Amino acid sequence: MAVTINGKEIAEDVVSKVKASAADLIETNGVTPGIAVVIVGEDPASQVYVASKGRKARECGFHSVQHTLPEETSEDELVALVEKLNADPLIHGILVQLPLPKHIDSGRIIQTISPDKDVDGFHFINVGKLGTGEIETAFVPCTPAGSMLLIERILGRDLSGLNAVVIGRSNIVGKPMFNLLLAHNATATIAHSKTKDLASICRNADILVAAVGRPQMVKADWVKPGATVIDVGINRIPAPEKGEGKTRLVGDVDFADASTVAAAVTPVPGGVGPMTIAMLMANTLVAAYRSAG
Ligand code: GUN
Repeated sequence: MAVTINGKEIAEDVVSKVKASAADLIETNGVTPGIAVVIVGEDPASQVYVASKGRKARECGFHSVQHTLPEETSEDELVALVEKLNADPLIHGILVQLPLPKHIDSGRIIQTISPDKDVDGFHFINVGKLGTGEIETAFVPCTPAGSMLLIERILGRDLSGLNAVVIGRSNIVGKPMFNLLLAHNATATIAHSKTKDLASICRNADILVAAVGRPQMVKADWVKPGATVIDVGINRIPAPEKGEGKTRLVGDVDFADASTVAAAVTPVPGGVGPMTIAMLMANTLVAAYRSAG
């Protein structure tokens, strides 16, 4: 039976270290790490995520501001706000919550964020640094960075000789995860919806990262005995056993089934999710330290 990787506990450990370092930066340099989170429109899921980012930032002792803009905000208005935040010395990290309304070009907004304040790690400069193995100076996207930390806790930092398979090729998770695994010497493969014989590729993985958005897709017979399985999926499915109309959260991995074969599996919730927000705090702290010289 696999070990359940306690992401909540590891995230709390990261947050308590960030909090201590932030206090030190404030005391020694008089710099308080500052984060600005921008949300456009009324998407309920985004509102929940943004509120929890603000709460966590305050818990870390950060200066935290939220800009809530109406759905009909124009692209030029959003660009102007990002430029203002780029120039604000009290702000070290800028996060524009995605998705943005359809009439706004997300790519233009992301590339407007100063690479030095790009705590999401989505700017071409940071994507390029990660892609060329400059992981010490890049801002790495928070979900892959958090997933990598969980992998390190199980297997260590050097993944030489291990096969890693990432299912999913998104710019936010799949591609940066692949690059991180490669930077840590894993033999990395990226698989996706058009991959032939996905199950047999996954069965070769010592490290399997699922980031596809398909509820409980990864079953026991996709998992190599003794593998480490990281579940990035967050899917809401009907849960009639909890009552009519009720739902519950599941990942992209069938947790109970995969746990019969793997050595370690992350649960949903309580696995990668809390790590994402912890890494956002860590990235903001790094941005603040860099600004202080
Ligand atoms: N929406 C869902 N995940 C993310 C993320 O990691 N960053 C931003 N900015 N928006 C998101």
